Amino acid sequence: MASTDTVALEQWRSQTGFVLAALGAAVGLGNVWRFSYVAGENGGGAFILVYVALVLLVGYPLLLAEFAIGRSAQSESASAYATLAPGSRWRGIGVLGVLAALAILFYYPVVAGWALKYLALFAFDPAEAMRPGVASSRFQSFIAGPLQPLLWMGAVLAMTVAIVWMGIERGIERASAVLMPALAVILLLLAGYGLSLDGAGKALEFLFRPDWEALARPRLYLAALGQAFFSIGLAMGVMVTYASYLPRDRALPGAALAVVAGDTLFAIVAGLVVFPAVFTFGGDPAQGPVLAFVTLPQVFVHMPGGAIFALGFFALLVIAAVTSLVSLLEVPVAWLMRRWRWRRGQASITVGAIAFVAGMPASLGHGLWRDVRIAGLPILEAMDHVASNLLLPVGGILIALFVGWSWQRGEALAGSGLRPAALAVAWRLALRYAVPAMLALVLVAGIRA
Ligand code: TRP
Repeated sequence: MASTDTVALEQWRSQTGFVLAALGAAVGLGNVWRFSYVAGENGGGAFILVYVALVLLVGYPLLLAEFAIGRSAQSESASAYATLAPGSRWRGIGVLGVLAALAILFYYPVVAGWALKYLALFAFDPAEAMRPGVASSRFQSFIAGPLQPLLWMGAVLAMTVAIVWMGIERGIERASAVLMPALAVILLLLAGYGLSLDGAGKALEFLFRPDWEALARPRLYLAALGQAFFSIGLAMGVMVTYASYLPRDRALPGAALAVVAGDTLFAIVAGLVVFPAVFTFGGDPAQGPVLAFVTLPQVFVHMPGGAIFALGFFALLVIAAVTSLVSLLEVPVAWLMRRWRWRRGQASITVGAIAFVAGMPASLGHGLWRDVRIAGLPILEAMDHVASNLLLPVGGILIALFVGWSWQRGEALAGSGLRPAALAVAWRLALRYAVPAMLALVLVAGIRA
């Protein structure tokens, strides 16, 4: 078993710092890039309805479960389960979490690199970037070349490594305290502008008027489920690891609610940025993953003040991506530190370097290896599909079953911090039956469809 007793455990300085860091993990490319294209592909309103329902019914109880596990075990994800239920086979869940974090770590920086590239383009050469067709055709040739995308990915990873290296309080907590409010301000400014566009009415209708027939498609549920897991940042050990840096007496239910609500709100408001622009200037909302990188820049060109809007938008994407990447890097880093006694700097650089090398296939999948298809998808999209729509929900089922069946009842109830006691009991019962059943149903129906 991992011995954590001799390694001085780092801690968050404040509860607010912890909530902001967890929000930083939750709010990322998933809320802006992924949410808008998946919602666009799945018809908007109906998708959002199912998404919000799944966030409340499945996302909240599972996030609280991860917080409870991490704080009770005071140990990073890979060993937390073995600590709470010694001798059981459940330690495998923790390892699955670390593997899933690596899987996402091997393509997420690629997209983050694209965002940074665009930020630089609009910051340093706005006149050129705003010429019709330039941004999107530049994007095509940019992602086609092997070298450039790797450099921008490396730059994002370097920023991430620097923050993780500085540690929990001085790195992650401080960075989140500055970046998360900045993010909220940029988002609100952009949404205000988005809502003033002519296409705002159409966008609101698209986002909030469900097309009821779409609800009959099992795929929609799986897409919403995968998106919920990805966006909240569940089932990867991130939230277990973050909660392990909390003192045992901290309240969790409110923190979990703040993270889930903040994350969902952020995604919906991001929809108010993306879709009014798309509808005003004639883009296609069902464009797929290129929505933010090919469609939107074409839209910016026609917008009054589009260069500023673009600058804000890509700054938003980069900041959101970095705080999420920080959380993904922290999972293997914490494991190396606590299990293998590595030093933080050594662990951060090593995992960052591995992510850089392992990120190459996903990056090349849009360039030199553009003809490679895995089940019909480019490498990056295939990785995302497997991680979000398979690994995460399976991890979620296991976490729910662990809390419902394997973790000693009294400890689990107390660990959640839910009060009155009836609430804690309801939470555990949900994890024991309803959540795994619902997840299994959506998973099986969605995969067979
Ligand atoms: N939630 C982040 C996003 O929306 C991505 C992310 C960070 C994540 N940590 C995670 C996804 C853990 C799944 C699990 O972009």
